This record gives sequence, C-alpha cells and structure tokens, in this order.
Amino acid sequence: MSRKKIALIGAGQIGGTLAHLASIKELGDVVLFDIVQGVPAGKALDLAQAGPVHGSDSKFGGGDDYAVIEGADVVIVTAGVPRQPGMSRDDLLSINLGVISKVGAGIKKYAPNAFVICITNPLDVIVWALQKCTGLPPHMVVGMAGVLDSARFRYFLAEELDVSVESVSAFVLGGHGDDMVPLIRYSAVAGVPLPDLIEMGWTTQQRIDAIVDRTRKGGGEIVGLLKTGSAFYAPAASAIAMAESYLKDKRRVLPCAAHLSGQYGVNGLYVGVPVVIGAGGVQRVLEIKLDPSEKQMFDKSVASVRALIAAAGKLNPDFA
Ligand code: APR
Repeated sequence: MSRKKIALIGAGQIGGTLAHLASIKELGDVVLFDIVQGVPAGKALDLAQAGPVHGSDSKFGGGDDYAVIEGADVVIVTAGVPRQPGMSRDDLLSINLGVISKVGAGIKKYAPNAFVICITNPLDVIVWALQKCTGLPPHMVVGMAGVLDSARFRYFLAEELDVSVESVSAFVLGGHGDDMVPLIRYSAVAGVPLPDLIEMGWTTQQRIDAIVDRTRKGGGEIVGLLKTGSAFYAPAASAIAMAESYLKDKRRVLPCAAHLSGQYGVNGLYVGVPVVIGAGGVQRVLEIKLDPSEKQMFDKSVASVRALIAAAGKLNPDFA
C-alpha cells in the first residue's frame, strides 16, 4: 500500500509544525507549498533530516508551484497573513479572502479528492469561502477551531482540578474565540459532569466562569506574550488530530467548523459543531439539544458568522 500524501499550504509557523507532527506520527509523506521562494523547500529538507533521528520514513517535498500538492489525500491550509497592529478585521478578511481564492483554485486543480482542513483566520468565513473556491463537497472541507478551543479548556480544567488532561473531556460549540459556546454540562472528568464536580466541592462556578473566559481569550493571551505572531503548537496538534481521524478512519467525534444544512436550524454556513470524522470526511453532525441559555449563545455565534459572510460579500464580489 502506498503512503498517504499530506499537503500543507502555507509553510509558516503552523505549517512547519504540522509537517513535523505528521512525520513523527508517520501519517504519510508531506509536501509544503508557500509563495515565499525557498522556505518550503528549506523546511522540507530540514524536516527530512530529522527523520533518521526520530525514526520516521516520511518523505518531504516543497515548492512554490501548486503542482507539488498533486494527488494529496489531505490538504491543510494555513496560508494568509495574521492580524498586524493597526489592521482592522475587514483588512485581514479582505487580504485572506484574496489568498484563499488562489489556494482554492490550486486545490481544485491538483487535489480535488482531498480532505481539506482550513486553519486560516477569520476561520468561520475563510473555510466557507474555501469550500466555494474548491468546489469540493462540503463534507470534505472543514475548519479547525473547536479541537483547539476544547484543548485549551481541558488544559485549564485539568490544572484547576489537579487531574490528568487525559481524564478531562470538554465540549464546545460555535465560532472561534469570543463566540465559543462551552457546554459545561457536557464537560466532564472521567464522565463526571462539571456541575456535579462543583456540587462535590472540587471547584466553584466562579472559577469555572473564569476558566471559560480565559479559554475564549486563549489565542489573544498567546499573541500578547509572543508579540510577533500567534499560537502554533496547539493549533497544529489539533489539525493533525483531525487529519489522523480521516486518514485512519478513526471516526473520532471532534468539534469542527462544519457545513450545516439544516442542523441546529442553520443552512449553508460553517459553524463549530461536534462531528464524526472518518474515511468519508465529515460523516455525521451531532445535533444535541440546547437549553435556552446555550441556544442564545449559539445563535449569537451564528449571527457573527453571518455578519462576516456579509462583510466578505461586500469586500469581494466573488463571495457576494
Ligand atoms: N499562498 C500560499 N502561502 C501564503 C500566501 C499565499 N497566497 N500568502 C501568505 N502565505 C504564507 C506566508 O508566506 C507564510 O509562510 O502563509 C504562511 C503563514 O504563516 P505564518 O505567518 O507563520 O502564520 P501561522 O502562525 O502559520 O498562522 C497561519 O493560521 O491561526 C491562523 O491566524 C492564523 O491565519 C493565520 C494562519
């Protein structure tokens, strides 16, 4: 059986980390694409030379011609620019929509059968635009946000409760960042829901509220410390978990920005919901019952995705 091919569009901080993780886990061979000449080939060579040290036979390639991604099984997109000081949300959206149009055309031409994972921000609208540009079926294009948000939530909860991160599960819905909808009653330690742990005196509602707030602002906290960029280790690990579930048909239930066609009363938008990822891409959307306050938070999140899509249409007629 031949090895799987993983194409990374964008060979920056997240792209390089994705390549390293894919190789360590031996998910397949890896190619990097970037518009900056030399960087994808240089990173590919450096990563290939790490293979003998950690015992990976993954092959690496890289370049600035989309032909390098030909026949990829998985494509992970990080191409774009991060928000710079003085740049508005619309400025970022406008630039990254232009980038994603080119990326989408490249995928459509060279990797039309791939499972595509988008990381570029603003995520919920960029993944929607990417699906349009690639023309791929919506179940084969997803956005990475929820795995990262729930990992941050799990980490903070494990610290608070002094238990292993492995024993903590967390459930989030909705968009990335401020609009995240943490579902406290579905978040648990070894199956014991958080509200029960509060009753048992392991923590307090106030402390959980502070953790939720820190999780929502998790990306910004890291930008504030790094100053020159945004988080890359945890975002890369999150996207690799999604890619692995697809490549190995694991059918993990992971929160992703997925295309909704009626679920949760939403049609034609990408919103963060739990989905089953297996060999068929997004195989199923879990549609859980929300209580009134959760529904209110979810609707707010959907409204901001709609507002971003409306802004995209004004900025770029291709997306009107
Ligand atoms: N085609 C391909 N690559 C591009 C293009 C393009 N049109 N435009 C920019 N790039 C490349 C840049 O050259 C850079 O190498 O995208 C890469 C982005 O890498 P970084 O700036 O290091 O950003 P990174 O931290 O990897 O984050 C990428 O993920 O979390 C989001 O907000 C973040 O949108 C950003 C993305």
